[in-house]
Amino acid sequence: MATGEATAAKVEAGDLSAQRRDEQRLERAKREREKAAMGGLWSRRDVMGRLGWVLFGGFSLVTLLSALRSAFPRVLFLPPSTFKAGFPKDFALGAVSDKFTKDYRVWIVRETDGFYALWAKCTHLGCTPRWLVAENKFKCPCHGSGFYRSGINFEGPAPRPLERLKIALADDGQIVVDKSVKFLFEKGQWGKPGSFLKG
Ligand code: FES
Repeated sequence: MATGEATAAKVEAGDLSAQRRDEQRLERAKREREKAAMGGLWSRRDVMGRLGWVLFGGFSLVTLLSALRSAFPRVLFLPPSTFKAGFPKDFALGAVSDKFTKDYRVWIVRETDGFYALWAKCTHLGCTPRWLVAENKFKCPCHGSGFYRSGINFEGPAPRPLERLKIALADDGQIVVDKSVKFLFEKGQWGKPGSFLKG
């Protein structure tokens, strides 16, 4: 009888042990599933987090580039209104120099008693006339206006003479022209100081 009870106890202990193993296995499987579920959740969070950082980084980069761009504004560098044209001896007597027409739109004329600077802009509609040496005149290619070497208009639709620009000598002895100061014949300004450089 005692042997039977012992055997029954052993069987019962074996069953309990097996049952415990099954429970542990099920628990492990459950944990694995939960872990997998949690892992998916964190993956989505990671994706959202990374997306947020990408957007933040992009925004920061655009802001930084804008700041840098504003530090270097797109400036249109125009030629200065004042320029040095060289020494008086560089100009031939009685000649019209078109050396500065391309860069400054200015002619410098040397007469026997001095110099004057003419703005190479037609007073009709603003085209650039050409100096015709053989004909001793400025001729506008747009509508045919003609100007004497003095700048006075004499043919075509131009309503008034060319404009003269301030001309003077710099400290170093070079001729300096200031395009920001103009002298208009029709206003009696060609006799004003700066409209003519004696020499
Ligand atoms: S613009 Fe010179 S003639 Fe018209």
